[in-house]
Amino acid sequence: MKKADVKSADQSLISKLIFNTVAPRPIAWITTLNENGSVNLAPFSFYNAITTKPPLLFVSIGKRKDGSDKDTIRNIKRTGEFVINVISKKFFESMVESGKDFPPEESEIEKLQIETVPSETVSPPIVKGVPAALECKVKEIIELGATPMSVVIGEVVFIHYDEEILKTQKGIVGRLGGKRYIVVEKEITIFK
Ligand SMILES: Cc1cc2nc3c(=O)[nH]c(=O)nc-3n(C[C@H](O)[C@H](O)[C@H](O)COP(=O)(O)O)c2cc1C
Repeated sequence: MKKADVKSADQSLISKLIFNTVAPRPIAWITTLNENGSVNLAPFSFYNAITTKPPLLFVSIGKRKDGSDKDTIRNIKRTGEFVINVISKKFFESMVESGKDFPPEESEIEKLQIETVPSETVSPPIVKGVPAALECKVKEIIELGATPMSVVIGEVVFIHYDEEILKTQKGIVGRLGGKRYIVVEKEITIFK
């Protein structure tokens, strides 16, 4: 086995090791509202659940290459609301496209011709046809790391779901290292 001491190793190697060892990661496809009321949509894989009672989760959002805030965190800080859309295979290409840099005034939803439906308790809408969506309100935002990254802790206040997702996650998309992804195809159930 090779060794990497974080104190002395290259930062690029450490980043690569984190991306490739903390995998597969779930992907939060987040809708927020821009200042002009249009819908912003972007994927985030530094994302996971924290607790279920209350249902809390975190998303870690970095800066753009030029050091400016990404639209998602700017919108979350301003409105305190966001929706996490769960991604199935049919949304894969749109999700990847939505991860590219769009100017703040441009809506990914309009550019990518994605349809939305209204949420129940928050202003950002849900992507139409996703297997599940979590309406969230901000509980806390913690700035961490050298960049720094904004770790958003969100409380899930309303959930939309297809009953099927309680039986199987087949077809759900996750992130691997590099530019690789995974689609759940084979599940193993342990009966005890
Ligand atoms: C699958 C995937 C996962 C991503 N995960 C993250 C992440 O966890 N944190 C982050 O800051 N950016 C992440 N990105 C990059 C953002 O999606 C990208 O910077 C996007 O342009 C941000 O859009 P916004 O400016 O509309 O918020 C990811 C991109 C992809 C394609």
